[in-house]
Amino acid sequence: MSRTIADLIQDRFGLPTEAGRARRAEGPLALLLSHRTQRRYKPDPVPDDVLEMALAAALSAPSKSDLQQVGIVVVRDRGKQATIGGWIPDMPWIAQAPLFMVFCGDHRRMRRVSELRGRPFPNDTLDMFMNAAVDAGLALQAFITAAEALGLGCCPISVVRNHVEKLAALLELPPGVFPVAGLCVGYPLQAGFISLRLPPAITVHTDRYDDRDLPALLAAYDQRREARHATPKENQRYVERFGYTEPYGWSEDKARQYSTPERHNFGPFIRGHGFGLA
Ligand SMILES: Cc1cc2nc3c(=O)[nH]c(=O)nc-3n(C[C@H](O)[C@H](O)[C@H](O)COP(=O)(O)O)c2cc1C
Repeated sequence: MSRTIADLIQDRFGLPTEAGRARRAEGPLALLLSHRTQRRYKPDPVPDDVLEMALAAALSAPSKSDLQQVGIVVVRDRGKQATIGGWIPDMPWIAQAPLFMVFCGDHRRMRRVSELRGRPFPNDTLDMFMNAAVDAGLALQAFITAAEALGLGCCPISVVRNHVEKLAALLELPPGVFPVAGLCVGYPLQAGFISLRLPPAITVHTDRYDDRDLPALLAAYDQRREARHATPKENQRYVERFGYTEPYGWSEDKARQYSTPERHNFGPFIRGHGFGLA
């Protein structure tokens, strides 16, 4: 038999499995298991009807209480896209992508609905903020899956939130509307690669949360991941602070990443952008 779902699961985790051995590697499950972020694109534009299909699929994502608190800004203005790319020069795929979009949580619409219906709105809470963020995240994921089904590749961009004040001004995001992530979209230039995930033994718990085995499981994951895609020495983070570590690995990389304050501007922005977060 040709490639099976089990093969795709093995590719994802680098661990043996028999689950899905009798199923061909095709259909929605194969699509999800084959996901890969794409950062290099052919120059071909994304046709309007293809975009319309992917947007319709994105908006088919489930939504908390059917509140539908997502807003999507399709950045058609190449000047605006170049401006955003210019803020983030170490991610040239932002300016180069044939299509750039921004997925937003939209809390404003619900407040307007309440106003239009003349009803009170005593719900300016952290929970409502989270509902909108989750709705936007689900729509983002659905868009990516649909885009991949249509032969496109995508790269979400949370780094736009480093520049959230400028982004909100550029895209005229009113109070109550906040960016969750940008999204680069285009036809991929390369096959790309499967990024090895943490094993389900770390991320999936049964009946109660249990992370007692984390250190050993993490060490094994680091090793599997480096064996598949060794981190080049020049890609080690913050060597001026931490020097070179051998062997390097995912856990060292992520610990180094979060050794530096990241995006502390976002909380104050959100609190000043129409959110009480009670
Ligand atoms: C919400 C979100 C934000 C992301 N932001 C960025 C980003 O700013 N720049 C980037 O190059 N990749 C970004 N990514 C892509 C991740 O780096 C990528 O999903 C991760 O490395 C796993 O790789 P994979 O998607 O190929 O499996 C983001 C992904 C998500 C889900």
